[in-house]
Amino acid sequence: MQSIEVALLGCGVVGQGVVKLLSDESSPLWERLGKKLVIKKVLVRDLKQSRDVTLAEGVLTTDPREILEDDAIKIVIEVMGGIEPAGALLLQALNNGKHIVTANKALLAEAGGPIFEMAAEKKRHVGFEASVAGGIPILKGLSEGLIANRIERVSGIINGTANYILSEMTEHGLEFADVLKAAQEAGYAEADPTFDIDGIDAAHKLAILITLCYGCQVPFKEIYTEGIRNISSLDIDFADSLGYSIKLLAIAQETKQGVEARVHPTMLPHGHLLTQVHGAMNAIHVVGDAVGESMFYGAGAGSLPTASAVVSDVAMIAARLEEPSLLDIAQRLHPADVRPISEWEGEYYLRFAVRDCPGALAQIAGLLGDHDISITSVYQPERDEGAEVPIVVMTHEAREQNMQSALQKIEALETVLAKPVLVRVEKG
Ligand code: NAP
Ligand code: HSE
Repeated sequence: MQSIEVALLGCGVVGQGVVKLLSDESSPLWERLGKKLVIKKVLVRDLKQSRDVTLAEGVLTTDPREILEDDAIKIVIEVMGGIEPAGALLLQALNNGKHIVTANKALLAEAGGPIFEMAAEKKRHVGFEASVAGGIPILKGLSEGLIANRIERVSGIINGTANYILSEMTEHGLEFADVLKAAQEAGYAEADPTFDIDGIDAAHKLAILITLCYGCQVPFKEIYTEGIRNISSLDIDFADSLGYSIKLLAIAQETKQGVEARVHPTMLPHGHLLTQVHGAMNAIHVVGDAVGESMFYGAGAGSLPTASAVVSDVAMIAARLEEPSLLDIAQRLHPADVRPISEWEGEYYLRFAVRDCPGALAQIAGLLGDHDISITSVYQPERDEGAEVPIVVMTHEAREQNMQSALQKIEALETVLAKPVLVRVEKG
């Protein structure tokens, strides 16, 4: 059997999963591929760090030149994370004629252009299945399985950590801060967990999905990004009693005014398929003009699920080393026309922390009315007069721009004691 030598940049949560899969002599992969993938070198920061895998003497290195300058290494697998030095190492690898595979969505979303351009110039493959939704083969699903479709909308739960936190808050009534640590210990969270909590990781993945679905590269800053920090167990309970679950969704949709690109907490009616996605699981709902609705579900993070996606790319590249890439993105990218969130129209859940006193509700309702926002229902639990009380308001469809200016004025009211909480409602 022919052997193809590969190298890893990084041997952490994902890298160790890759080592395990590639070290499994009895894996069906070898028979299916008809070739053997051999790990020649693994770049790490600290040679002494204890790892869950055993590598032969001399495989671990702290010197990237041992990988980049070795012509026998055909595929470089980047699982170190961060934008630099990962970006520079991948560019060097491509420049030296190597194919690359990466799980690094931050790098691709924020600085992917030069990588795809270099790959096109050097006629090398870039595999990045693991960069979106961990083990779910969503990128191959979109770029191969749904190649004949115009993608009308793609929406999903694509951050396992945030979904884990919201699920634990929902199922066990826990508060946000209590759950974050457990997600970090499970190995789902990014090195900087604010990426997960503030929606940045989901926005990185959405940027990659948009490139595949709509052939454009959205400047990362133009993706509206809001995380789950402001969601409390109170909102989860109110949402539940109104018939909704709260999920962090990433949504892209082609509209006449441009591509909508947004990540934010979203209220979905109980029974919606995405409300059945719990823990660190991910799911992506795709609407194509030919296929209709499709749902991709699976493990969105973790060592072996992510390694499964990484190794699928390595295997696909090994199978067609010198053939042209199916994902030659750089050749067909066009500028992105992004529809700003201010133009979004939809229903809203609002929660105000208010001092219970005569006229407090009337002031809020008046300001909403002044901004053309119509209320569908209001709920206020009983409290002693003068105490802080939550007022929950559900609205009819309203325009985001109007909502933001109404909330600014409401927040300035003397009776409103904290920043209002807003959650957008999606029913489709
Ligand atoms: P991790 O556990 O922190 O591992 C990072 C690895 O890279 C470590 O082995 C580290 O070396 C090495 N490394 C980091 N900086 C380095 C440098 N400057 N020079 C040499 N080696 C360096 O990270 P991870 O969770 O595996 O994530 C890796 C990538 O996969 C990230 O881009 C992440 O976003 C992506 N991803 C992760 C998951 C997941 O579930 N964890 C899922 C999908 C995608 P030492 O071991 O010596 O410190
Ligand atoms: N931190 C990411 C998540 C890892 O929680 O989804 C998978 O990309």
